[in-house]
Amino acid sequence: MRYIIGISGASGVIYGKRLVELLAETSEVFLLITDTAKEIFKQELYVDADDCFANRKNIHCLEIHNLNSPIASGSFQTDGMVVIPCSMGTLSAIACGASDNLLERAADVVLKERRRLILVPRETPLSEIHLTNMLTLRRMGADILPAMPCFYDKPKNITDLVDSLVKRVLQVLGVWRI
Ligand SMILES: Cc1cc2nc3c(=O)[nH]c(=O)nc-3n(C[C@H](O)[C@H](O)[C@H](O)COP(=O)(O)O)c2cc1C
Repeated sequence: MRYIIGISGASGVIYGKRLVELLAETSEVFLLITDTAKEIFKQELYVDADDCFANRKNIHCLEIHNLNSPIASGSFQTDGMVVIPCSMGTLSAIACGASDNLLERAADVVLKERRRLILVPRETPLSEIHLTNMLTLRRMGADILPAMPCFYDKPKNITDLVDSLVKRVLQVLGVWRI
């Protein structure tokens, strides 16, 4: 299986990192990280995003500003895309089809080809603009899976909390079965 994962500039890039690690155990991952997300990797995780994923099996790190990439075309077959976390900026760009960078274009392609698109927004509180963009995307067929980890599994640490959300994303993607 082959998935596109976008990590954009919202708090919680740890969700994206963990999803990529789990998915790459069994699938090919085409990874896009926005410039702001790279900054947030440094701030929240104290790591360089590029170093994190360099030379890792099944992970293809793509240059976000290079629109001349196979994933910018619908003829490149994928099994779906997840943007995790999804900033309100990227959410809005996808909702209006801006396609200004490779992440936005890839999401545009996934929507037009009617493949699975999962967005994991992270913002609070949500404005009318944010909610309207989410509704627009839901109506276009995207799944909106907010970064809301659950507590009923009694998480003992941050890793447990992160995994509860990431495993839910994998379930919706059809990769993880409990
Ligand atoms: C440290 C930091 C944390 C941020 N957290 C969020 C957030 O949680 N949610 C959000 O929608 N935007 C957040 N932003 C703002 C976005 O990063 C900003 O709107 C950016 O232009 C989004 O661009 P991108 O989607 O291409 O990464 C944050 C920015 C910084 C620098």
